[in-house]
Amino acid sequence: WAEAASAVRQVLLASPRSFCAGVERAIAVVEQALDRHGAPVYVRKQIVHNARVVADLQARGAVFVDELDEVPDGALTIFSAHGVSPAVRREATDRRLPVIDATCPLVTKVHAEARRFSGRGDTVLLIGHEGHEETEGTLGEAPGRIRLVSDPAAAETVQVADPERVSYLVQTTLAVDEAAGILDALRRRFPALAGPGSDDICYATTNRQRAITAVAARADLVLVVGSPNSSNSLRLVEVAERAGARAHLVDDVSGIDLRWLAGAATVGVTAGASAPPGLVDEVVAALTALGAREVSEHTAAVEDVVFTLPKEVRP
Ligand code: F3S
Repeated sequence: WAEAASAVRQVLLASPRSFCAGVERAIAVVEQALDRHGAPVYVRKQIVHNARVVADLQARGAVFVDELDEVPDGALTIFSAHGVSPAVRREATDRRLPVIDATCPLVTKVHAEARRFSGRGDTVLLIGHEGHEETEGTLGEAPGRIRLVSDPAAAETVQVADPERVSYLVQTTLAVDEAAGILDALRRRFPALAGPGSDDICYATTNRQRAITAVAARADLVLVVGSPNSSNSLRLVEVAERAGARAHLVDDVSGIDLRWLAGAATVGVTAGASAPPGLVDEVVAALTALGAREVSEHTAAVEDVVFTLPKEVRP
């Protein structure tokens, strides 16, 4: 192990990395709700896809449930950052549950586009991954009128009612290059394809991918801090691999396999938008302890996005 570790000379941090504005807001919603109302506070699904964030909030009294039928009558309920379908909202309203919605405003924007496009009669093609909570929520905006297109093969075969009335949306956390390939195929098949006014892949996803692309080109190994169910973290691993580096996802420093470090003089480090910055600090400290002498940062963008809290928990 010592031999493997001694190869590490340099740590290259990708910037931006770690929390985005939507994740900071969602975590603040749960913290504020706990401060104001006391425990327990019920959260439908993981508030953000990160094991440490969930564990920390659980310790403070948040109860994470899969569906609303696990929430007792009258209990304060929070919708996670990934958004919910109208059917879930209806269920909460029918049960008169007090709800605070922590959906990221950039996901809400995609839901609004889904309603607008389907409302004018378009078949909507949602470029996204099957089974992810965000896509499930967006698909629920217009059941039967939105089709999921999850890979280039699906783009070649998806059928629409009227090729003159078709539009597309994109999951906010997809890989920019992957989505562009799918979109090219859809545009070729449906020249009348309409789209959102501005990109659905959010600024945080885009910036983190740009930063790690540059870092990965100079690194022997890339470590992405994030949980296995975090879409944007998984995409960072794939983007780093496409840029030519070996890349691994780790939930935290304990997930690093020292064998990965064999022959890795330069280690790139980033974190998905749901991963706390403290976890990155721990990884960098470990790499320094293992022999890295230099820690530098590659900055692809400077972010200053802040979202206001929902009115129920606004200061
Ligand atoms: Fe929102 Fe993008 Fe973060 S959609 S939750 S700002 S990754």
